[in-house]
Amino acid sequence: MNDFHKNPEAETARSSNHPGTMNRRHFLASLGLSAAAFSLITSGTFSPSWVQANSVSHEDIPVNPNHFVLLADTHCGPHLKHQINFMKKSLSEIAAMNPRPAHVLIYGDFAFLYGKKTDYLVLKELMATLDKVQIPWTVCMGNHDRRDFFSEIFPEHAGKSLMADRLVFKVETPNMDFILLDSLCQAPDDSRWITPGEVLDDQKDWLNETLKKQTKPVIVGAHHSLDETKVDDILKSHSCVAGYVNGHHHTWSTEPQKDLPALILPSNGHWGDIGLVNVHANENEAVFKFTMRDFLVFNKTPEFKPNPLRHQKLAEKQGAVWRLDLK
Ligand SMILES: [Fe+2]
Repeated sequence: MNDFHKNPEAETARSSNHPGTMNRRHFLASLGLSAAAFSLITSGTFSPSWVQANSVSHEDIPVNPNHFVLLADTHCGPHLKHQINFMKKSLSEIAAMNPRPAHVLIYGDFAFLYGKKTDYLVLKELMATLDKVQIPWTVCMGNHDRRDFFSEIFPEHAGKSLMADRLVFKVETPNMDFILLDSLCQAPDDSRWITPGEVLDDQKDWLNETLKKQTKPVIVGAHHSLDETKVDDILKSHSCVAGYVNGHHHTWSTEPQKDLPALILPSNGHWGDIGLVNVHANENEAVFKFTMRDFLVFNKTPEFKPNPLRHQKLAEKQGAVWRLDLK
């Protein structure tokens, strides 16, 4: 190993003297700029026309109407270091995608544990990353969410619900649609949560009537699995239903549920399988691909060592694909 590799400072010093490279003063001089002018540009105080011409607005970046990103179990709230960091990572990656995805769908447990208002205030700041670049997003309620506080902090989202006393959504796309059900069984106050999920008869009736009118393939989903939402008989009675997607288990799993094609999503950043899922759809199929960032043992932070399952799970699941027939 020579000095160049041993000492990073030697690399900097060598580069600045290399005939093929320029130091900062020479670089600015080549642009006809003083150091003071350069600092005004980098601070955003002054934008010459050539800087404006080279900057790309999100409005100039095309949208892929058949690309969606799925997240689940974000579990964000104040002072939750790794959950917030994983959320920032996912949202900044999505915001920088070119082309932009058409929609981001979040399958519940948006908030940390009790669905506190302060959790949603943190999420409001985080989600501004997508709002700023106008990437639409939809979230369904998990067992750690609360409809009342979510609706108070995100009235523009709650206002899109298709049922009056539940948060139920439909996201329409060119080749198929998504329906997100509300399986939250909400505790009377925010000092506890109720883990099991349920879909009451009025929502089941709404689902049945909605599916009767459905003219495209549809992927129905909720935070809880079909064991708890118990809508499998309704889904099986409509040929438009392509499959079922849910969160809650923090594990990428493509095992069928109740003999229906089904996908369980990873957690974006709490525990278990950590990552997000990109979906690309065409007339024939929707392809779901898992970007796995980590595997976290329950109640342990990413820094926890040893984590013997980390490498095993990453080797097993990173880049895993689930193909869903839309024909
Ligand atoms: Fe969760």
